[in-house]
Parts: sequence; structure tokens; C-alpha cells
Amino acid sequence: MLALVFSLCVLSFAAQISCAQTAAPQIKSDVGKANPLNAPGLAEKVEALLQKMTLEEKIGQLVQYSAGQATGPTSGRTDDRDMVRKGQVGSLFNVTSARETNALQRIAVENSRLKIPLIFGLDVIHGYRTTFPIPLGLAATWEPEIVEKAARVAGLEASASGVRWAFSPMVDIARDARWGRISEGAGEDPYLGAAMARAYVRGYQGERLDAADSIVACPKHYVGYGAAEGGRDYNSTEISEHTLRQFYLPPFHAAEEAGAGTFMSGFNALNGIPTTANAFTLKQVLRKEWGFRGFVVSDWNSVGELQAHGIANDGATAARKAFQAGVDMDMVSNVYHRHLMQLLESGQIAQRDTDEAVRNVLRVKYAMGLFDHPYTDESKESSAMLRPESVAIAKIAAMHSLVLLRNEAVSGSPILPLSAKISSLALIGPLGDDAGNMIGSWGALGRAADAVTLRRALTEKLGDSNLHYSKGAGILDGTDSDIAAAVEAAQNSDVAILALGEDAPTMTGEAASRTRLGLPGRQEELLEKVVATGKPVVLILFSGRPLTLPWAFEHVPAVFAAWFPGVQAGYAITDVLFGAAAPTGHLPLSWPRDVAQEPLYYNALNTGRPMADPEHPAEKGETKYISRYIDEPNTPQFPFAYGLTYTTFSYGATQTSAKQLMLATLQNALADPARQSTVLSVSAEITNRGARSGETLAQLYIRLEGTSVAMPVRMLKGFQKAALAPGETRKVTFEVGADAFAFWGVENKFGVEPAHVTIWIAPDSTAGESTTLEIADTHR
Ligand code: NOJ
Repeated sequence: MLALVFSLCVLSFAAQISCAQTAAPQIKSDVGKANPLNAPGLAEKVEALLQKMTLEEKIGQLVQYSAGQATGPTSGRTDDRDMVRKGQVGSLFNVTSARETNALQRIAVENSRLKIPLIFGLDVIHGYRTTFPIPLGLAATWEPEIVEKAARVAGLEASASGVRWAFSPMVDIARDARWGRISEGAGEDPYLGAAMARAYVRGYQGERLDAADSIVACPKHYVGYGAAEGGRDYNSTEISEHTLRQFYLPPFHAAEEAGAGTFMSGFNALNGIPTTANAFTLKQVLRKEWGFRGFVVSDWNSVGELQAHGIANDGATAARKAFQAGVDMDMVSNVYHRHLMQLLESGQIAQRDTDEAVRNVLRVKYAMGLFDHPYTDESKESSAMLRPESVAIAKIAAMHSLVLLRNEAVSGSPILPLSAKISSLALIGPLGDDAGNMIGSWGALGRAADAVTLRRALTEKLGDSNLHYSKGAGILDGTDSDIAAAVEAAQNSDVAILALGEDAPTMTGEAASRTRLGLPGRQEELLEKVVATGKPVVLILFSGRPLTLPWAFEHVPAVFAAWFPGVQAGYAITDVLFGAAAPTGHLPLSWPRDVAQEPLYYNALNTGRPMADPEHPAEKGETKYISRYIDEPNTPQFPFAYGLTYTTFSYGATQTSAKQLMLATLQNALADPARQSTVLSVSAEITNRGARSGETLAQLYIRLEGTSVAMPVRMLKGFQKAALAPGETRKVTFEVGADAFAFWGVENKFGVEPAHVTIWIAPDSTAGESTTLEIADTHR
């Protein structure tokens, strides 16, 4: 492998090309890493404790409540403290201060018979007190390193409050922007999703799971939840086994391989079987195939909801079905507490299965060191929050999450970055000074008061008198609109910045599916009237999903997707607007032109009647009878992985180290449990064509043809960022493993097949100059 890299360098030197960077930083595999849940001595401790437990205490470990909140069928439940004292509760969540977690923990550890500590969970989704961009924004950084750092900060802060369990990462693949929870994940691609999944797990769980500041991760919602029909939250999903294995499972598998200690089942029915009662996904795939050693918690009341799904006519049956399918812990529905004992006594569930579920929970508690250090140090709680170094990471994450979608020339040169000579600026729109919305949904302990708005940052930069602020319109309704004042502010300024978008708490996240993806309220009218002034306009979109704004993408010269950027929103955006930093974010999803195109994703199959593609022309050419809409192009507004910056790059032809790969070589490489060996080097020269330094996101895609199962038109198989000086040319190289060519075939297993392979190194999912090679079973 080294020799290969060296020869590529020599080649590029010969061509007088810089070769400072050659091998791609491989996304580290966690395969083979020591799993803390298999630590020596752990099983013995678990077994010794299990022997001492009564049946009631065992069931207690499988029960979780949201502290203080009566939810689900509550009869039979007294209060949390009493239940903890009796050993009837294994976990509580939504307890968010050191004082309270310690107080409850004291009851478990000092007053219960066996002194088994509680595990406190919380929706720590994009930060605890220091709020980072929403997960979709974090994915737009395409930087697992920054995501890992953000998750580490969240772990430090949450653990300081005694919260040692994050209900995160959400690794659901999402192809439909109507679904409100698209904001909580890493978008549509399994490769990017897997890279992000690993980063979160590493960050939360830290170097050692038993360190007092580590928190255990909980990849969710296992599995397929993002494929909700019609994008309507909680709706059913129909996913073939091939598609499940190929697209929806890989980020979960990556999280499991990275050592995630817990998993959360979902709300959705998957091919008719609710995922909270799905033995195929929970037992066959997660336990048997992947060897998962942690525990599975249900989603909120999802065990109880098996009744509404129609597969259980009473709570006892719901409990039995979820339990037998492999859900170890019941989140709030109270049916395990109420029915497991009777199910055991009547022989409907087996004692050995109960023991196994309890082992799964205890194993995690021991591996986390909860028995050794059950409490948190209350005196250190406040100093753990919002540390300057944590806030600095939040600013970098926010800057890198911004995706520049348009930057057209106004009077001869691109409008961005804004010139330092600008003397007056109008800031218009309901999101220009809305600190609460900068936090986004699932804010944990994030506070509006901690968030810096664009108004505050721009005022600090330009001075009060040079910033003309006008809200112009409300986010949701027109009652507090003053569009005339906004137009006047624009007229009195050199440039207008419009801060428009969604209302995070009500329009994004759980139960926030939409059928119309434009700007709500009178915001589009506000935008059009400000653009009509003729002043240069920069539109900053704050949203938890792509918004369909065809008019804006034609008429507004500069547009950013800013998602919800977190506590440093204003500073991050201001730095990028004025060029102190260049935008480097790229879309983690396909941005639709129209909601009717959804679900929309780049890694789709070709169909038998595709649109003509210069690389894969349709056999019959363009006729009426091709797969398309008659009133809208098939293409997205902006493709997956697209993103501009303040310079431009050209990508040369893709080159490979071989034109033929032997099937047997790939099969042998796949059989190696470490799966680390390289089977192919792929490279391309990239040139910075502009006058500024900049960073490009080089992406590796492949396509397989001639296979037993139809494969997507492109599949992401690698990415790396490269920083280039003006005029510089750089060769980027990807060292590709056999995994890249493996897929779930007709024989119901992962493997490689003879195939014609097309490979691209490209700046987005539609660009790049491809090359081809063959996977052959005999030498040609
Ligand atoms: C329901 C959500 O689906 C899940 O993501 C979350 O972790 C739980 N509620 C707990 O709040």
C-alpha cells in the first residue's frame, strides 16, 4: 500500500504537481477494538449480582420512567422515590441537575436492598448546555472530528449533572424532507451516516466508558423510522431486506462497532411488525449477527403502543411481545412493571430470558463504572458548563456547518464575502434576533440567553448606527409584520441580510412533519419586496430541513443554509459573511425543487427508463416514456454533497491503480476480520482556480453494473477535505477497501460479484470525471 502511494507521488512530481497530501485519512474501523462490555471480570460481577436478585428486583432493572412525569398507563405506580427504594426502577430520565440525580441515586445506592445504581438518561442531542448546530448541521460539516469533539463536550457537561446516558445519535437515514426529524440525523447517505454515527459514539463514550465524564450512547431509532410513508412522523415503513441492509442498517452497525452501549427501538412498524416487537432486527441482526452486548430500550411508550399498532389486545401482550422480541427496558409505558411478573409466573416468558435482559442492563452499568462512582461532584457542575474551550468548538462547528448555496456576481464580482468597506447593513427577518431559535429543537439545557444572534454579532462588528435592524415579519403568521419598515431599512443600507426560516420548536423535530416546504407566514413576501429594492441581498435560511424556494434560488444572489447553528450562531455567520472564514459545509441531503419530488435521494436506482445521462445514455434516448415528471425536472435544486466556497476548484480525471480487480482478492480481503486492507487507490488532481485559499470536499463515488441486484447510480465510498492555496494543484488519493464493492446480494448475504465499476472523485454527487474498471472472476 505504501509503495502504491509512493508511486503516485512520483508520478505527480513528474508532472510538477504538488503532492503534499496523498493517502486519504481512512475513517477508522472500530472492528476488533476492545469492547468495554466484554471487559475481563465483568461477566462474573454481573452473574454474582444476578444470583442475589429477586424476580421483582430483576424486573425493576428493566423499567424506566421520565422522572416525576406520569405517563402511559400509570396505575400500579406509586412515586419514583418509593419505587427506586424498592428496586423497581433501573433508570430515570429528564432529571437534569447534579443535586437531583445525586438525591435519587442516594436512594438507589444507600436505601435499596441491593444498592444497584440508577442510570440517568436524557435527550442530549446536539449538546447539553453548550448547544452545537442541530445534527443535520453537524452532518453538513462532513467533519467527524468536530462532531466527536462536540459529543465529548456534551459528555463532559451532561455527566457533571449526573446524566450518563445520551439518547443519541439519531442515525436514521432520511430521504424525505417532509419528515420533521430529518433535522435530527445525518441526512440520506449510509456512508456519511456511519461516519457521523461513529463520531458521536466515540465522543460520548470517550476514551474509557468507565470514566466519570463518559456517557453511554444510544443509537436510535432502530430501525427504518426515517422511511415513514409520506414523511409523516410515526407512520409505517415498508423496506425490503436488501434496502434495509444496504441503506438503513449501516449507520447502526457502525455505531455498534464503535462500542455503543445501548440501542433504542423505534415507533414505526417495519414491514408490518413494529420495530419495538421486531425479533428479526433486534435479535437476529443486532444480537446474533452483530454480537451486541449492551441493552435495548424502547422509545417513549412504544411498548404500550403495540396495542394501537394492532398486534396486542392488552398491555400484558404488548409487554410479552416487546420483551420476547428483544426490548430489554421499557421506557415509560409501565407495562413491564405491571405485567412481566405475571407473564413469568404463568410461564409465558422464560426466566432465562429475563435473566439475559437483566444481564444486558447490568453489564452496561458495570462497564460505565456506575457501581464504583454512582454520584457526581455537585461542586463541579457549574464550572463544567459553557467552558470557553467548549464554546470555541461550538463556534467552529457552526461555521463549518454553513452551506453556501448561491453566490452570484453583483456588479462584476460575487456578493460574498462582504467587503470590509460596507458602511451600513440592513438585518431583516424574524430570525435575525431570535436567540431561542438558534438553539434548535431538543435543546437539552441550552438557553436562549447563551445564544448569540446575528443582530448581536453584527452590532458588535459594525456598531449600532451602521446596522439597520427590522424584523419585517413574524416566522409563522403575518400579524406582527412591518414589511414597509424592512424595505426602508434595506433602502438605507448598502446590503441587506435576510434571516428567514422555520420555527425550530414547532416546525422541526418530532411530530413536526410538513406538506409544504416553503417559508411560513409572510416571509416570502418580505423577501421579494426587499429584493425588489435592488439592493444586494444575502439570504440566511435557518431551518431543520431543505426549503423549497424556487423564486429565491433564481433571484437572490447569495443564499446560505444555516440550519439552527447553536450558541455561537451570530459570531459564526458574521465571520463567514465577512470572509474571516470561508464556508466549507456541504449538503448531507438532496435539496428538492418541489415537495412533490420527495422522497428524493441521490443514491437511487436507475430505472429501466432513465433520463439521458452522458455517462449512461438511455437505450432509447429521450422519449416521452421515461421516468420523469412532465412538469418538473428530476434533478434536485442542489444535489447531495453540494456546497460553494469563496474560491472555485476544478477536478481532473479520476484515476485508479488498477483496471481490473480479481473477485478472489476482494473476497479474501472481506474475509479478514479487521477489514483494513486496501485493494485500490483512486486519485484525481484538484486545482484551486480562484484568487483565495479554500477548502474543497473531495468525494469518492462508485457505481456497480451487471450485478445480481440493481445498484444505485452512485454510492458514496469516501470523502476528504483538501485545503489549497490559490492556483495550487493537489492530487488527492483514496485508499479503498474491499467493503466499498460489497453489497447485499440476491443470496441474502454481503459479498462481491463480478461487475463493471464506474468511479468518480467529485465535488458533489452529480459532478466529476469518471473512470471505469472491472471486477472479474478470471484474468482478462
Ligand atoms: C421520543 C423520541 O422519539 C426519542 O427520540 C426520545 O429519545 C424519547 N422520546 C425520549 O425523550
